[in-house]
Parts: sequence; C-alpha cells; structure tokens
Amino acid sequence: MSQDIRIGMLGFGTVGTGTYRMLVDNREAITKKIGRGIDIAKIGIRDPKKERALDQSHFTTDLESIVTDPSIDVVVELIGGIDPAADLVEKALLNGKHVVTANKELIAKHGSRLVHLAKSKNLDLHYEAAVGGGIPLIQPLKHQLAGNDVIRMMGILNGTSNYILTKMEQEQADFADALKEAQAAGYAEADPTNDVDGIDTSYKISILASIAFGKQVPVENVFREGIRNIGITDIEYARSWGYKIKLVGVVDAIGKDAVCVRVHPSMIPGDHPLASVNGVYNALWLHGDFVGDVMFSGRGAGSDPTGSAVMGDLIDVGRNIVGGGSGSAIPYEAGMKVVPIDDVHSSFYLRLRVKDRPKTLGQISMVFGEYAISIAEMQMKTLPDNLGEIVFLTHRASERSFAQALREVENLEAVDQVAGVIRVEDKQ
Ligand code: HSE
Repeated sequence: MSQDIRIGMLGFGTVGTGTYRMLVDNREAITKKIGRGIDIAKIGIRDPKKERALDQSHFTTDLESIVTDPSIDVVVELIGGIDPAADLVEKALLNGKHVVTANKELIAKHGSRLVHLAKSKNLDLHYEAAVGGGIPLIQPLKHQLAGNDVIRMMGILNGTSNYILTKMEQEQADFADALKEAQAAGYAEADPTNDVDGIDTSYKISILASIAFGKQVPVENVFREGIRNIGITDIEYARSWGYKIKLVGVVDAIGKDAVCVRVHPSMIPGDHPLASVNGVYNALWLHGDFVGDVMFSGRGAGSDPTGSAVMGDLIDVGRNIVGGGSGSAIPYEAGMKVVPIDDVHSSFYLRLRVKDRPKTLGQISMVFGEYAISIAEMQMKTLPDNLGEIVFLTHRASERSFAQALREVENLEAVDQVAGVIRVEDKQ
C-alpha cells in the first residue's frame, strides 16, 4: 500500500480529540475503506503547555507552517470563527491542500467563495461537521435529495438551546436555572449568546438553505430571535394546547427563486416529528416535492459525533485522492434572494398581563379585528392585584399585520404587559 495520507489539523479541542480517537479505534476499517492509511502528521494548537493524547512532536503553535507544508495533503480546520480560520483555509487551498472543516461561521459567511476556490484548483472542501454534529445532512442535501424542489425545511440545530428548553419543560426549571445546568454539564459556554440567541442556528440553517437552493443565503438576512424570553408559563400553556416549544431554523421556498429563512422559538404540534427531539439532540425535517417528508436526527454536538462527521469527510477526501475524483465539490453562487419575515404567514401565541376590568377583552379583540386577525383559542385567569392573564392562539396572519396589531395592543391602557409572543406551527 502506498504512503499514508498526511493530515494537518488546526485545533485539537473537543472535535479534534473525537476525530483522533475514532482514527485510533477504527484505523483498520478506515484504512481499508480508503485504500490508504491516514496519518495525523501535524497539529496546530494555541497552548503548547496543555496535556495532549499524542506525543508533543506532533504539535506546533505555528499554524501557518501547516497550511504551507508541502508534505501535508489535507488540512482539517477545527479552530472555528473567522479570524484566523478564513485566512488559513484560503492559504491551505492556495497551497494545493484539500480541506475538511467543522466551521459553520466560516462556511455560512464564505462558503460560496471557498468552494469555488477549491473547485478551481481541483481540490475537495468538505464541511459535514459544521451542521448537526454527527448527523449526515450536507451530503444528503447535495446528493440524494438534490433532484427535489425543497418546499420547506425546519431544524432543531442547537443542542444547548434544546437542552435548556427540554429542562424547562420536564423539570419546570426557569430559563436561568436551566442555562446554569447546561453550563455545568459542559453544553453551554460561559457566554451563551451564540447558542441561546440563535446565532449558531442562523449559521447552520443558512448553510443548509444555501445547499438546498444552490445559492448562498446571506446570514445577515436571516431573521433571528432567541429563547431568553421563553418562560415556564409559556411552556405550560403550549402543553395545554398540545404543543412543545423548540428553537427552530426554518426555510420556506417563496416562488421559484426566493426563500425566507428565520430562526426563532416555535410552538410545534405534539405529533410533529420534531416535537419529540429532546435534550442535546438535533434534527432536520424537510419536505421535498418528490420525496415528501424526511427527517434526520441524532447527536448534534460533542466530541465523538462531530469527530465521526469529520472522519466521514476525511474518508471521502481520501477515497478521491486514491481514486482520482478530487474537486467534485458542488459550488453554489452568491446572492440568494431572501424575503423578509414580514411577508410570512403563521399563527401566533400571545400572552398578555392585563387590568382585570370590564371591556379589556373587548378592546383587545377589536384591535385584532381591525387587522383581520382571527382568534382560534383563548385562555384567561385572574391574577393578584386586579390583574389578569389572557392568552390567545390566533389563526394564520401575516407577520406584518400581527406586529402592527401587537403594537396597538401593547399601547392599550388596559394592557399591563406583553408577556410572551411565540410563532405557532399549524397542526396538520
Ligand atoms: N454549540 C452547538 C450546540 C454545537 O449547542 O449545538 C456546535 O455547533
């Protein structure tokens, strides 16, 4: 058998360790599948003093020396973020190296450009681990599902948020306590912004949309709202009507050449396949014109599942090197047309704290009526201090009309506080 394929790895944290462990445990099978061995020859790190699973001779703090090293065949980028990852990946490609990356921000922002660069140099650039950890999502969208017009995709793509919402639902924990538990369990970062404010999901859903629709969705055009305002009370009302609250990324095809891409909490009907995806699990549900409904689910983060996705890409790159099929990346153009959320229609959940006195309900329903918003369900209860709580589920309305009505409702003297607003997925 000829010489091993030489890997230069940038970063050796959670994902790098998982990838390395998989190689050690399954080396024989991996070598057989590729037709050549894999050698993790060099690893670029920031902190040379940290204890590592491999001999120190593998490590260097000079990351640039890896992407320019003529003996390296494939660069595996696992440092995340844009700076210095973007420059290093570009340099690796310019130096003739195939690239495997788990970097969702990099692909969401620069995917189109980098895939074109790889293609122009007959190189592979794979990024399965960037979305959904160990769940195969990118390859099925690029290949097996590629003949479909995707009508709709909806995904739970952030394990940390799903862990928090599941804790809130199952243990009646409030958001702050559930977040602390997620941090203690090692899921949420000290600064949880990327996860709980939907930033991580916006990168992932824009990558999936870009592949499904063949044009890069600018991530800045993705509507985004996180889960910080979700209360246990909302989860309980949702349950009483047969829904679960999940942070979802949603893509709707709008005509033939536009999409609406959004990230926000949604009330999902209890019998929808996404409703039973709990804890740190991720899932993507989609509807294609020929395939119908499809759902993928599994572990969306963590060392071993994400390492498994990186290894899958490495095996693909390795097979292409051995078999001569490199450079078969499927490029997508820049500039997908993204329509604003204002034009999207959905049902809404609205929880109001109101003054408990005559005409309050009448005034609120008058405003809904003015904007042609029809109420589907309602619950009401009295609270201490002459206050009350009124909770509505509306029929479908445009985001624009609902927002206008909400502004007027909020300004009613009888309304003390808008306590919760959540979009609702319709029951089938
Ligand atoms: N922080 C992400 C999550 C995993 O909680 O799902 C990495 O994308």
